[in-house]
Amino acid sequence: MICPPSVLLTGAASGIGRATALLLAGSGWHCVLVDRDADGLAQLMPQLQAHSGIHHLARVVDLTDADAIEALAAGLPELDAMIHNAGISDTSGTALTDQPASQLQRVLDLNLRAPQRLTTACLPLLRPGGRIVNVASGAGLQAIPWRGAYSPSKAGLIALTQALAAARPDLVVNVLCPGFVRTELVESLIAAGRLDPAEAVSKIPLGRMANPLEMAHVLRFLAGQGAAPLRGQVVAVNGGSSLYGGSRRLPPATLAPLALDLPLSLRVEGHQDAAWVAMASTEPASVDEQGAYPAVLDLTPLAAPAGELWRAVHASASRFAQRHPAQASLTLLLPVRETADWTLASDAAAARMLVATLACEWGPRHLRINALQVPDFADPGALGSLVHFIAGAGAQYLTGQTLSVA
Ligand code: NAI
Repeated sequence: MICPPSVLLTGAASGIGRATALLLAGSGWHCVLVDRDADGLAQLMPQLQAHSGIHHLARVVDLTDADAIEALAAGLPELDAMIHNAGISDTSGTALTDQPASQLQRVLDLNLRAPQRLTTACLPLLRPGGRIVNVASGAGLQAIPWRGAYSPSKAGLIALTQALAAARPDLVVNVLCPGFVRTELVESLIAAGRLDPAEAVSKIPLGRMANPLEMAHVLRFLAGQGAAPLRGQVVAVNGGSSLYGGSRRLPPATLAPLALDLPLSLRVEGHQDAAWVAMASTEPASVDEQGAYPAVLDLTPLAAPAGELWRAVHASASRFAQRHPAQASLTLLLPVRETADWTLASDAAAARMLVATLACEWGPRHLRINALQVPDFADPGALGSLVHFIAGAGAQYLTGQTLSVA
């Protein structure tokens, strides 16, 4: 009998965690759910069993308690993945210098120390090639004032992820940075007057907040074997909000989000190699016509001469934008160009920022663009799941990002 993959998921009783638990259970994972909210877990468990018929485990634990973390780890089965999702924000609105250290510590204990302690305690349980996913935040990339230690705690979690990924290349360790997701946490910020939803949306190129299921799809991918090419990556799934530095208010989305499991219709451009071409499927003219999400994987930038990468990205994007009026994705493959020649050093950075800028301009058209920086002689077979995920409807809140492949 084949054992289902097993995952430990914290903060499972609410919001992103609850949506992820339901999705993972429905996808055949054996789940160990952790939260301090006993009632929330008790309500979730029957739904989970109904979804899958697998006997899942629920553990009521306050993750700010170091001893409780040790006790939790002592009773767990072997794991294929850990998702450290539990987190809190500070809704008090108190200025940092008016806060006692204990108030900062509360946020840091859960958002930063708990993933560190739980990872340390559970590492012996993780199977070879296991995945660790930390859930940080866009607040770890940009400072959000009047939220106490929230931004520092999430910046710390990003750094912790990258250091662990470097220390343990035998594991697959990455960090998700969600943008605004309409969960209880965000509703509480709105209710406390700490967040104006219309103002927030006006700085998001894709013109809307995400829903928890969108983050669940990303977490399921990062917890799965398809994420193996990614190590220490900051996966910022935020509709482009962390990229946008413009002063103009952006319009709200005019189209509803697509079904996250919409089939992908991928066209491969810029390569004749059968292994790359095999990733393709036939492209319909529009989503409505054939019920699939149109996407292009363009490899032409891989062949760009030194110093001409940004030009290749621009040419590829221009071709794509002419053919796709709305709701489609472009994924570019970029070469890794390490150079000691200072006159060429700017090219890759300019190309990456071009991807980000295109994402900001394209957001109102519901077009997405992302890039994968791949080493020479990358194996298409090893990248197939990653490309399909990034290009597909399941990642429709991901735009403007360049991820590096190990
Ligand atoms: P949520 O508030 O809906 O859920 C958080 C869960 O963590 C709850 O079930 C809660 O009971 C649990 N929890 C809180 N303190 C705990 C403790 N001491 N021990 C054990 N469990 C505890 O939050 P949401 O929105 O689903 O967020 C999940 C993660 O995503 C958090 O780390 C958050 O910082 C992050 N995030 C959320 C964003 C959003 O817009 N909702 C944006 C960016 C990041």
